[in-house]
Amino acid sequence: MMMMLGIWTAFVHVSIFTWAEGTPPNVHALDDGLALTPPMGWYPWNIFGQEPQNEKLIKEIVDTLVTSGMRDAGYSYVGPDEGICFLRASDGKLTTNFERYPSGLRGLGDSIHERGLKYALYTDAGTHTCSKAMPGTKGREFEDMRRFADWRCDYVKIDWCHTEGQDVVKAYTLLHDAQHAAGRPIVHSLCTWGEGSPWKWAAAVGHLWRTTGDICGPGLADWESAMKIAFDNETLFEWAGPGHWNDPDMMIVGMPGLSEAQNRSFFSLWCMMASPLMAGNDLRNMSKSTIQILTNREAIGVNQDPLGIQGRIIRRNGQVSIWAGKRLFDGSQAVLVFNQRSSPADVRVLWSDIGMDDTAGLYVRDLWAHETTGPHAGAISVTVPPNDVAMLRISKSKDFPLPPIIIADTYVVSLRATDTAAQTLSAAVTIRNQGSAELPLWKVREGLPGWLSVTVAGDGKSQTLTNRISTAGLKKGFYHAIVRVDNTEPVSGRPMSAIYYDVDLEVPNNVGGGSK
Ligand code: GLA
Repeated sequence: MMMMLGIWTAFVHVSIFTWAEGTPPNVHALDDGLALTPPMGWYPWNIFGQEPQNEKLIKEIVDTLVTSGMRDAGYSYVGPDEGICFLRASDGKLTTNFERYPSGLRGLGDSIHERGLKYALYTDAGTHTCSKAMPGTKGREFEDMRRFADWRCDYVKIDWCHTEGQDVVKAYTLLHDAQHAAGRPIVHSLCTWGEGSPWKWAAAVGHLWRTTGDICGPGLADWESAMKIAFDNETLFEWAGPGHWNDPDMMIVGMPGLSEAQNRSFFSLWCMMASPLMAGNDLRNMSKSTIQILTNREAIGVNQDPLGIQGRIIRRNGQVSIWAGKRLFDGSQAVLVFNQRSSPADVRVLWSDIGMDDTAGLYVRDLWAHETTGPHAGAISVTVPPNDVAMLRISKSKDFPLPPIIIADTYVVSLRATDTAAQTLSAAVTIRNQGSAELPLWKVREGLPGWLSVTVAGDGKSQTLTNRISTAGLKKGFYHAIVRVDNTEPVSGRPMSAIYYDVDLEVPNNVGGGSK
């Protein structure tokens, strides 16, 4: 971690600023309230590859997401990657591979939702997934997305292997249309490794897109590859924003072979770039230091900032770079000083470099030491140890509020009628705001079925969503609704956060008392 220096040392710099190819974006992201901040979660591929993936592993990881505090820090999407979890049956339908996933893919999803987490799956736009062990969606896009919806999937990574002759824009547009037709809100994570420059078009059909090749092979972190990916991804900073993110791949934090400083540096870079934070390590065997890094709420606050700006390099001198340009919701700015040398670097960050007015001096928060100093006039000087970072937040105010991070106690409500006379059943979903900025304005979106009403009550920190079900007049059967609750920005009416959850109702007999 860095030390603040009393004496300011000059920072000699060469500016090697690279602009993204193409014209500056005027992006119209999907208006579905999904991925308004970079998705956070866990995928098995980086550490496990294919073979060890099965239901037992995913469930153990789900447990650790909860017990390690990662869920409460914001990690939510979890599920098998290329884990041979489904096959195509002889009738053409996708079916669970019950040998590996005995509860079925719907059962696995339910158990994830019950723990207050969301369900991620994986497929491919071509004929097969990369290893050829699983079917791709080509030619069966609508049926497959319907199946993903039946399994109650919330996030799907769609790979680009075995797609010879397919047009990348058309293929992912079709998959988006198919998902839309299936009627379930699902985050679409495109995985073309940058092929077809997805940053230029994919915001209209998905929520995140891989910008580069794979960060590592299963089981082995590759620091050189991670650094190349970080610096390539940086050049695309203009194309990211709420609902549409550049994805430099899953994280390698906590994988064998990395030092604590490398883990910290990696995490800080991903947070600064507003990158999706999909952990890729074995959560069941984490050191204390890895947990502390992955759950550093001040760094996560930079990543999950609602303005969704991707930080960029404003100065680079050989192996020392200053990353900034990341204005945060409270008017403060995040700054990262990254030292890739094998010796310490003395670096001076000028307030004029980051476009902040310094008349009254500025406060500096060290996001790894969790200390505030200041006011500092004109600049701050830091000494960054070898291969490490200084991650700072700079503000006119002494307060450094954390942006909202919304956690639900469950994402499913299941009720069963017990009587043939009309009944009112009720169950609550509690959502908590883990940030310090208040979010009191939650509102249920219209369009609920007649048997369900939802009321919202609470304050800026916690809301209770009471689901009231009236069985009057319902016929025997299963009923299902997806509830969307938005937190709306008071002036623009723009959703700042949105959550979705499922409501299930079983009615074992026809119920009297109504006309439905
Ligand atoms: C591709 C993706 C990886 C992983 C593997 C699975 O290589 O880029 O992230 O999903 O496929 O085979």
